Amino acid sequence: MQRRGFLKALAGAALVGPELYPAASGARETSGNAPVRIGLMLPYTGAYAQLGTNITNGFRLAMAERGQRLAGRGVEILTLDDESNPAKAPENAHRLVSRDKVDVLVGSVHSGVALGMARVVRETGTPWINPNAGAAEITGSLCAANVFRTSFSNWQTIYPLGQVLRARGHRSAVFLTWRYVAGEEAAAAFREGFEQAGGKVVKELYLTFPQTDFQALLTEIAALKPDAVGTFISGAGAIKFLKDYAAAGLRGRIPLYGSGFLTDGILDEVGDVAEGIETTLHYGDGIENKKNQAFRLAYAKTFKLQPDVYAVQGYDAGQLLALGVEAVQGAVGRRAELLSAMAKAKIDSPRGRLVFSSAHNPIQDIYLRKVVGRENRVIGVAHKALADPGRGCKMA
Ligand code: BEZ
Repeated sequence: MQRRGFLKALAGAALVGPELYPAASGARETSGNAPVRIGLMLPYTGAYAQLGTNITNGFRLAMAERGQRLAGRGVEILTLDDESNPAKAPENAHRLVSRDKVDVLVGSVHSGVALGMARVVRETGTPWINPNAGAAEITGSLCAANVFRTSFSNWQTIYPLGQVLRARGHRSAVFLTWRYVAGEEAAAAFREGFEQAGGKVVKELYLTFPQTDFQALLTEIAALKPDAVGTFISGAGAIKFLKDYAAAGLRGRIPLYGSGFLTDGILDEVGDVAEGIETTLHYGDGIENKKNQAFRLAYAKTFKLQPDVYAVQGYDAGQLLALGVEAVQGAVGRRAELLSAMAKAKIDSPRGRLVFSSAHNPIQDIYLRKVVGRENRVIGVAHKALADPGRGCKMA
């Protein structure tokens, strides 16, 4: 896959942009070997634009490694910029599924958008791979045979952080986040983990997504004087937050922690204000397995960038799809067989072995990471093989 091709596709991403790789050069397309149509519904503008781009890169790398073929069929990738806007999500998902007739839908980043997509795929039965959004309901009360997640539940990424804070001797904490599904779930999971370990969350502070005017909340933290601060903020917001935290004089006075989204994919842009911050996440730099080494090398060579957690999740969405399509020898219309193969998948992921719970959410190690220079260096495992409780999931 050529870098120019990626950039061209991303430049047109506000619209649905097709990108076609025929089955084989010179081969005549028939309905049986027509390309597999894949709809990538992701943010390419706004606070989560970088996350959407990195997921897309990871997904395309997985396709490129297979010569742009799945079980002998070409692939056609249609990209749509969802702008992290939940209000437009059902219409956008319908556009890909009903008008563009994609065989599989991949997306999104923002939990509110993903909840809108869930409604559409539950109606239409379209196979759906969610490569980021962590809303509990997706693999909880909205779980379904055609719904898969290659990322995490919000709960998984931050519940283990409470133990870490207690191990560092902190008894009280303030939690700061965005007011929307992912932030609220992260706040609840952090409280659960920290209070089970004997700590006390003295206050939760919220800002409307995607606002980044943190000043008033930082002043409140300074007045509350907790032992520590926990956060869920990511993407462009995380860059601003880390700089503001330091500028407010809180860095070095009140230790800052978070789910790893706080520091993933942004370290080149924040200088040293993130140095030493500890976070929990299902990926980190320096995980020593062959797959991770090969993935990081290929990603860096292709995109001239270092991969992050979002790139891994996009790559694994591609790996999961490939496994399903291969199991039905390209006949993606045999949905029940395709989905059953995906449910049983054991994927060699850069994060380590990836398997799915009965609700189709990853069961995975949650790493403890520490920012060292430009790395989110893995320094331990905060929780081994953590499964989301999948509350309310009744798989048909
Ligand atoms: C979410 O909305 O679920 C989400 C967004 C960015 C990073 C992690 C989670």
